[in-house]
Amino acid sequence: MLNIVNLELRQCLDVLIFFRKKAYNKLMKKFIENSIFASNLTKTLLYSIEYKMLFQLSRCFSYFVTPPFQEKDKNLLKFLEAGVIKIHTEDAKNISEGIYPIEVIRPKSPFRHIQNIPMLFLDSLKISRRRKLNIKKDFNIQSSESAEAVEIPDYLKRNYHFQTDGYFSEQSAKLYEHQVEILFSGTAGPMRRMLIKMIKEKLNHDRPIKILEIGAGVGSASLDFSKALNYSSYTVTDVSDSYLNNAQKRLNGPNFQFVQTPGELLPFEDNSFDLVFSVFLFHELPVNIREKVLHESFRVLNAGGIVAICDSLQLDDEPILNKVLKQFPLDYHEPFYISYINWNVKTSLENACFTEVSSDFKLLSKYWTARKQ
Ligand SMILES: C[S@@+](CC[C@H](N)C(=O)[O-])C[C@H]1O[C@@H](n2cnc3c(N)ncnc32)[C@H](O)[C@@H]1O
Repeated sequence: MLNIVNLELRQCLDVLIFFRKKAYNKLMKKFIENSIFASNLTKTLLYSIEYKMLFQLSRCFSYFVTPPFQEKDKNLLKFLEAGVIKIHTEDAKNISEGIYPIEVIRPKSPFRHIQNIPMLFLDSLKISRRRKLNIKKDFNIQSSESAEAVEIPDYLKRNYHFQTDGYFSEQSAKLYEHQVEILFSGTAGPMRRMLIKMIKEKLNHDRPIKILEIGAGVGSASLDFSKALNYSSYTVTDVSDSYLNNAQKRLNGPNFQFVQTPGELLPFEDNSFDLVFSVFLFHELPVNIREKVLHESFRVLNAGGIVAICDSLQLDDEPILNKVLKQFPLDYHEPFYISYINWNVKTSLENACFTEVSSDFKLLSKYWTARKQ
C-alpha cells in the first residue's frame, strides 16, 4: 500500500517538475526574445538618429545639395513603424527557435562605428550634391582599385545610390554596410536573415551543402548565412574586387572561397552547388542580365538544389508603399529599379526551368525560393 502511495507521489512530482521546466523554458525563451528585440530596436534608434543628422546636414547646405525626399504622410510612417516592430519581433523569434544563432546580432565595434561617422557625413554631402546635379558617372573605373582581371559590365559603371565611386573603391566598400543600415533604419540585417528561414524550409539535405552567393558585396549576408547553414564549401562572389576584398577580410574559415565574377557569367562547372542565393542584387540589374543570372544559377545547381533570392519589395505587394518604391530610384540613383519592381520573378524562374517557386515579403523586402528538379 505504502509502495503504491510512494509511486503515485513520485509520478505527481515528475509531472510537477515537467511543468516547472516547461514554464521555465517558456519564460527563458520569452526573456531571450525580448532581449534580442530590445537590441534590434536600439540599433533602429541609433541608425534613425544618424539618418536625421545626415538629412539635417544636407538641409543646411541645401543651396549646394539636394537631400532625399522626406516622407510626411502620417499613415505611411505609422505603417512603416509597425513593419519595423514586426520584423524585429520575427527576427528575435527566429533566433530563439534556433533558425539562426544569436551570434548574428553581434554588436559591431563601437570604435569602428564612430570612426565611420565623419566619412559618412562628408560622403552624404557628396551624394546629395550628385543628386542635385543628377551626376551618375562621377568616377573613373580605370583609376579606381578595381582589378582588370574581370571586365566590369557597362551597366555597372555608374554611381549606384549616387554613392562615391559606385561599387569600385575601398572607401565605398568601407562605408557601404553602414550606409545601408542608415537607409533602412537598422532593419537590413533582419530583412536579409528572413531568407534563411525560407531556405531551411526548402532544403532537404541532411549533409553539409555547397553554397554559392552571387553579388555578396562586403559579406553582410555571408556573415549571418554562414553561421546558420551547415556547409562544406561557401563560395562568395561579387563583380567588384574592392567589395570582395572587404568581404574576405571579414569572413575567415577554411571553407570559404572568394571569386570575382559577374553573376551572369559564372566560372563554375554545371551541377556544382546545392544552394545559390543573392541578397539585394537583382534590382540593380537590367532585365536581360537578371534572366541570365537565373539561367546561370540553374546551370551550376545540382539536381534537387535550390535558388534563393532576397530583394526589394515590388509594386502592389503593399499598395500603401508604392509611393516609397517609386521615389527610391530618384533619391538613390537606381536605373533598373522601376523595371525590377514590375518584374514577374516567378515567370522568369519558371522560364529558367525552376519548379516549386515560393515567395513571401516582409517590410521592404521580398523573397523567392525555387528548386532545380
Ligand atoms: C546592393 S549591393 C548588395 C550587396 C550584398 N548582397 C548585401 O546584401 O548588402 C549589390 C552588390 O552586387 C554587386 N553586383 C552588381 N552587379 C553584379 C553582377 N552582375 N554580378 C555580380 N555582382 C554584381 C555589386 O558589386 C554589389 O556588391
